[in-house]
Amino acid sequence: MRGLTLDGVGVITYRTDLPEPTLERPSDAVVAVRAAGLCGSDLHPYEGRERVRFGVVPGHEVVGEVVAVGSDVDGFDEGDRVLMPFTTSCGACGPCSEDLSARCTSGELFGYGDPSQPEVPALQGGQAERVRVPLATSTLVQVPAGMPDNDAVLMADNFPTGWHAAGQADIVPGRPAAVIGAGAVGLCAVVAAISMGAAPVVAFDPLSDRRDRAQLLGARPASPDEETTGFRSVIEAAGTSTAQRLAVQRLLPGGTLSVISVPTSDRFPITPIEAYDRNLTLRSGRAPVRSILDYLMSMVVAGEVTVPGEVAVTHPGVPLRQGAETYRRFASREPGVVKAVFVP
Ligand SMILES: NC(=O)c1ccc[n+]([C@@H]2O[C@H](COP(=O)([O-])OP(=O)(O)OC[C@H]3O[C@@H](n4cnc5c(N)ncnc54)[C@H](O)[C@@H]3O)[C@@H](O)[C@H]2O)c1
Ligand SMILES: [Zn+2]
Ligand SMILES: [Zn+2]
Repeated sequence: MRGLTLDGVGVITYRTDLPEPTLERPSDAVVAVRAAGLCGSDLHPYEGRERVRFGVVPGHEVVGEVVAVGSDVDGFDEGDRVLMPFTTSCGACGPCSEDLSARCTSGELFGYGDPSQPEVPALQGGQAERVRVPLATSTLVQVPAGMPDNDAVLMADNFPTGWHAAGQADIVPGRPAAVIGAGAVGLCAVVAAISMGAAPVVAFDPLSDRRDRAQLLGARPASPDEETTGFRSVIEAAGTSTAQRLAVQRLLPGGTLSVISVPTSDRFPITPIEAYDRNLTLRSGRAPVRSILDYLMSMVVAGEVTVPGEVAVTHPGVPLRQGAETYRRFASREPGVVKAVFVP
């Protein structure tokens, strides 16, 4: 099978000899990938900020067609167009029952092998021709007819993640919100914050092309140097300590900082004294995408909110053999490269 592997820091290999995924358990499905996104989260191991097991197929934002279902799988058949959130989930454990699918007690991350547990097999990701989906009944989601693949890729991660980021930012209709970082996650958070009634929504990013995209979605664009403060809600989707400190400084007393970036430092951006003296709230965490999709997908289908695929996906249809070059262009923040989507 053809696909990419991450073989070291900065090393993406295009391979044609990967093993075909099979049904390993009766609850598995196998999906033929139609499109798989490249995410800011893929950059953490690629740039060496996060330790992972090398040799694993990355990719956790996947839409595809079911090609095999195990005997225990309900609700899905060969030929269905489906997406899978970036973690698997059982739908029945404590966290799943409390709409926290990202912390399912039997959940796994696509495209990740824990380096501290080499005996546990990695769950291969979707930047390949096919992918095995554990717990398929409760993990997979049918893609509505008419939804473009690129929007479905955003529904597998970035859009529900942006929605979750805004949802935990204590947005008050008519009060200002800031989004720090206008990558694909930040752009999705802009759409969510506007939809939840924040006004104005100001999007900060050092890159002018990303600011322009945020403006297309209804935000006021701002350079990180701009000293605007006074936000009730601040969503941090940049992932650097500098961005997090600026995020804290922009909050009003009583404000909420929603950190949606994956932490790369061992310190909170707010000290206990600052939180006390300004009555600040900090929220963070992995987005429970599968839990959110139950209602977010129905809002999309009803036309109540629009997935920003046309604005955020700048490089659709990238062949897998261009994997190494595409990772490099995204990681170097080449102007105009916001989100690439691979197609096998
Ligand atoms: N919590 C979750 O479940 C979850 C899910 C998906 C992604 N993420 C994380 O969200 C973050 C964003 O993902 P992405 O795909 O949009 O990444 P990205 O790297 O494309 O976007 C980050 C953006 O932040 C901007 N930025 C950098 N420094 C800044 C500063 N000081 N001020 C303002 N903007 C600044 C960059 O220019 C860039 O546009 C990553 O950390 C990713 O791992 C978290
Ligand atoms: Zn992602
Ligand atoms: Zn569960």
